[in-house]
Amino acid sequence: MSFPIIAPSILSADFANLGQAVEMINNSAADWFHVDVMDGVFVPNISFGFPVIAAVHKLAKKPLDVHLMIVQPERYIKEFKEAGAAILSIHYEACTHLHRTIDAIKENGMKAGVAINPHTSIHLLKEVIADIDMVCMMSVNPGFGGQKFIKHTYQKCAELKEMILKAHSSCLIEIDGGVNDTTGPLLLNAGADILVAGNYVFGSANPINTINTLKQMGSNTTSLS
Ligand code: DX5
Ligand code: ZN
Repeated sequence: MSFPIIAPSILSADFANLGQAVEMINNSAADWFHVDVMDGVFVPNISFGFPVIAAVHKLAKKPLDVHLMIVQPERYIKEFKEAGAAILSIHYEACTHLHRTIDAIKENGMKAGVAINPHTSIHLLKEVIADIDMVCMMSVNPGFGGQKFIKHTYQKCAELKEMILKAHSSCLIEIDGGVNDTTGPLLLNAGADILVAGNYVFGSANPINTINTLKQMGSNTTSLS
């Protein structure tokens, strides 16, 4: 796997032609599918659930990176595995027993990610940073594609990278929200490993070229690691 890992978010795809979007990602330089699940409670929007994820998984030739924006995610860990998730991210803000839920994700054979909202301090992850595979750092308030990037994320990302290195953890940093050709290189300089992009990819005239642009960004930046 070469860095940065690029994960187009299918939330911005045309749902009436989801199969085409999956094929496009299969044929592109993208590494993962980013799959946003919203319950209308944790975030003010509802996206899709198990049947849609399973249908995407059937066609997808790359791992599904499933981002749960739902309350009580611990209730559905096994079901997300069965639907095809390879990486499962739960929100710090949605879990009372975060450590137990991380264990459950790993016991079910998936990589475990923890997502944090823009207002959530990275220091709250200190006690689990050695146990998780990824932090999904939200650079917009979760709920919608196409929102404006929150600039404070650059500094937050650099601080998280430092914390990961100090802990000798192999945890990767994923940035989710408002990633494009301006924010992308700066995020990679700040230590990001994985870039999620929805609107930038699916709102462009040539999504395959746009994904290529994101993938090539790694060669022009100096990672802190
Ligand atoms: C937002 C979702 C994101 C979203 C990113 O709640 O978690 O994954 O699809 O979309 P863009 O790249 O358009 O900000
Ligand atoms: Zn997401």
